[in-house]
Amino acid sequence: MDEIRSVTHVDNVKLSPDGKSVVIIDQTQLPNRVVYLSLDRAEDCFDAIVSLKVRGAPAIGIFAGYAMYVLSRKLEDLPYAQFEEQFRRQKEYLNSSRPTAVNLSWALNRMESVVHTNAERPVKEIVALLGEECVKIHREDIAMCRKISEYGLSLLHEGDGVLTHCNAGPLATSRYGTAIGPILLGREQGMNFRVFADETRPLLQGARLTSFELQKAGVDVTLICDNMASIVMKNGWVNACFVGCDRIAANGDFANKIGTSGVAILAKYYGIPFYTLGPTSTVDRNCPTGKDIKIELRNPEEIKEKFYREPMALKEVKCYNPAFDVTDHTLVTGIVTEKGICYPPYTESLRKLFE
Ligand code: MRU
Repeated sequence: MDEIRSVTHVDNVKLSPDGKSVVIIDQTQLPNRVVYLSLDRAEDCFDAIVSLKVRGAPAIGIFAGYAMYVLSRKLEDLPYAQFEEQFRRQKEYLNSSRPTAVNLSWALNRMESVVHTNAERPVKEIVALLGEECVKIHREDIAMCRKISEYGLSLLHEGDGVLTHCNAGPLATSRYGTAIGPILLGREQGMNFRVFADETRPLLQGARLTSFELQKAGVDVTLICDNMASIVMKNGWVNACFVGCDRIAANGDFANKIGTSGVAILAKYYGIPFYTLGPTSTVDRNCPTGKDIKIELRNPEEIKEKFYREPMALKEVKCYNPAFDVTDHTLVTGIVTEKGICYPPYTESLRKLFE
């Protein structure tokens, strides 16, 4: 339990004590090994995001903030024009690592605006301000996750069955998480839930991360294959579906891990409330509908080979491997944010969040 508390209650993304590198728990090693990585090169930070060593929309944003600070420290002796040019290049490089989660560009833009709004100051001072900004991004996420957990918990009752997809827990965010936050918070308050965690093919975030987090927190969790969601719903075991989100469009359509929209369609069929939970940093007001969300396509080998001892399909077999899908807003009962729960019509309720 102690080792696990260190995973679920300690920052999975943080600055090293000397501020010269960003330290992450390598999520690809879980649940079998808790391995910390210390990164200080742009290429390694890029790779950490692409290879899902750090993953989950808010965690990627927090990581990107710290990464830009670590990288900018190495540029602090440059004149402003060169500093700004190299900062922008590295920011764009990190931003190109994964396209779907808006939190990445959101955090990078926040860091960049510190550079631009302080252009008159010495570069060393700008770098110090960048150090403050990345810590702020992280602290804000911790507070947002806590509020989301409280609002989400208000939707649940003692003994409820909750189905979740992918991983939107502490590892994907900070502290409580988003979709998993209400369950962890409720558990801390002595409540009991039964959680069904979809394993989440092809990269098994549900099996490797969600069931790990919940089991270690003492929550009654049952791991199911993705194609078993329908039967557990039909059995009457699911009172609500809670999932995370990577980008919420202005009309309430949202992108999340591939398979989420199928869960939403099943939930509608069985009359089960379906919620997505995420911070307002995941709302992209410049994105009118789900059609405008870019979906990341990943290496087909993840389907055929990853996690298997030998390939499970012929080399020449084609694969289609989208990392995310878009759930239509008509399937969504509510969107739980740190500012409250939004209900349809989402164009209006989401807009009000920013007033
Ligand atoms: O590809 P991943 O593992 O980064 O996908 C993660 C998800 O889809 C999460 O549900 C989402 O980022 C929300 S995390 C709070």
